[in-house]
Amino acid sequence: MRTLYILGLIVPLICYLLDSSLPKFYKFDPVKLQALSKASIEAGAGNTTVIFEHLVAALQEEYGTQHVNGLEKEKWFFNNAGGAMGAMIILHASITEYLILFGTPLGTEGHSGVHLAHDYFTILSGEQMRLDAGDIEPRVYRPGDQNYLPRGVGTQYVLNGWALELAQGWIPSMLPFGFLDTFTSTMDIANLWKTVYLTGVNIVGQLMLGKF
Ligand SMILES: *[C@@H]1O[C@H](CO)[C@@H](O)[C@H](O)[C@H]1NC(C)=O
Repeated sequence: MRTLYILGLIVPLICYLLDSSLPKFYKFDPVKLQALSKASIEAGAGNTTVIFEHLVAALQEEYGTQHVNGLEKEKWFFNNAGGAMGAMIILHASITEYLILFGTPLGTEGHSGVHLAHDYFTILSGEQMRLDAGDIEPRVYRPGDQNYLPRGVGTQYVLNGWALELAQGWIPSMLPFGFLDTFTSTMDIANLWKTVYLTGVNIVGQLMLGKF
């Protein structure tokens, strides 16, 4: 009984302390990411391939190649979540942050999910529209705009283009949202394996560099 009592106090306290110290572990700055994105959009002059290459080089220069992966065609995979589908590549994944390129030029629509992380979605090409419950008109985001979705908030979105997405918070808690559509819908096990494998390799690799 006493042990339960102590656990009931200690566990929430540890969780609270860990949670409130999360920002200490963050490496990426959403304001900086938006500035770099805008520079790459300008340099790419409407060519998304060029925008990606320019942006990844700039991110590697800013944050180091040990924290930002290069673009390799075979490292891309699909993500089905919340009814939406797009392709993505992991530039960085650790316990507290992920940085990815995500999108589709074909258009997709769905639920953002409700996460224990803040999300900064900077449009690189095309357009995103967002509807929060209670809105009548959509909010529209175009290249260079950053759509911020606070922790714990869910929204509906339409994406027809590509974005640089930064998430900061409890990244492992977000993963089930990214996996579950495999079992309820796509049954694309090879893609799931690629997702789990690449996410794991990145998180463990960053831990070994001391990046939580
Ligand atoms: C974009 O740039 C790449 C690399 O320079 C080139 O191969 C491709 O053809 C260009 N795409 C378009 C649509 O112009």
